[in-house]
Amino acid sequence: MKTVFITGGAGFIGSALIRLLIAESDWRIVNIDKLTYAGNLESLGAAGKDARHIFSQTDICDRAALDTLFAEYPPDGVIHLAAESHVDRSIHGPGDFIETNITGTYTLLEATRAYWSGMDEAGRAAFRFHHVSTDEVFGSLGTTGMFTEETAYDPRSPYSSSKAASDHLVRAWQHTYGLPTLITNCSNNYGPCQFPEKLIPLMILNALAGKPLPIYGKGDNVRDWLHVDDHARALRLVFERGATGATYCIGGHNEKTNLEVVDTLCALLDKLSPRADGQAYAALKTYVADRPGHDKRYAIDASKIARELGWQPQETFESGIEKTVAWYLDNPEWIAHVQSGEYRHWVEKNYGARS
Ligand code: NAD
Ligand code: TYD
Repeated sequence: MKTVFITGGAGFIGSALIRLLIAESDWRIVNIDKLTYAGNLESLGAAGKDARHIFSQTDICDRAALDTLFAEYPPDGVIHLAAESHVDRSIHGPGDFIETNITGTYTLLEATRAYWSGMDEAGRAAFRFHHVSTDEVFGSLGTTGMFTEETAYDPRSPYSSSKAASDHLVRAWQHTYGLPTLITNCSNNYGPCQFPEKLIPLMILNALAGKPLPIYGKGDNVRDWLHVDDHARALRLVFERGATGATYCIGGHNEKTNLEVVDTLCALLDKLSPRADGQAYAALKTYVADRPGHDKRYAIDASKIARELGWQPQETFESGIEKTVAWYLDNPEWIAHVQSGEYRHWVEKNYGARS
């Protein structure tokens, strides 16, 4: 049985990865999460109560706490997802992004390096540090072209530049100290348990509440959408079989304008949960001021991970988005706890002294 540290395991993607690993592997998971506003242990469902899931409410900037965890649960690898992740928040307050995404990654790298240096030769050779990053580090595309592993970094927002900085630190730790690292750069994720600040859950929840659906600018910016479970499967594959020192781009081959996404959501809600007044949800669409520095288009060429590791997304946008709308309709408790703030007390109620 492997022991793997997962940082940010109470977040949207980290919780999907832990649900997958508890269901489909025999690994012991040490979930290291500070539980910021974005951390929600309720998202782990039954996996959160499994004996192979160990939760530690820890800030990745806290070196002493990380050293204690490495000593207590000597891991075979680390999958690093903890981050501040929302572009709009990074525009209004970049400080936490610098602290967690850059200083936190540096602190985690140093704690990992100290632990890894003390392993025997076989342990050092088998160890992996997998850094989970975004395609936003590559900047913004025009109407043509796609990001690949060779694309030069050109981040534009405080979020993407802090992620780019963390990617560079990870590469430097590989090159300078020989730490066996892997980096994945993924496109926009959607699916269950996403915090309703991001486009898709925000639109679903606003629509259900009869609130305006705020579309930035003309709604013609393009994102390449991937279902979170497809991302989680890709992360497991890269962690297990990727070449150390390599990077992999992950994407869903699902380019959509924001307007197309919102119209799809409205049409699904009209079908699955029609409004009581008989109006179409699309009547709630509202054009608002554009995001400053708004990246125009992202698109991923995911042929390397397909060719080298045999990964393909299982969901199309059409299948994944319908399941996602259905999930939000079927889980009013999760939504109510997030909206009331009750999710922030989940740890005391369910983990008590274990944190
Ligand atoms: P999220 O905001 O939902 O979750 C982030 C998690 O990290 C939360 O549980 C939070 O409590 C935790 N965290 C924040 N600061 C911390 C700290 N200092 N110490 C410990 N834990 C801390 O984010 P997400 O959407 O799940 O993204 C996870 C990772 O994947 C991030 O690194 C993000 O950059 C990357 N990513 C996200 C997307 C996407 O579409 N959401 C796409 C590509 C890559
Ligand atoms: P978001 O989910 O914040 O992801 P990212 O900025 O990392 O791509 O936004 C996705 C797209 O949707 C982006 O082009 C901004 C746009 N958007 C809106 O038009 N309205 C909104 O209320 C939000 C949150 C995003």
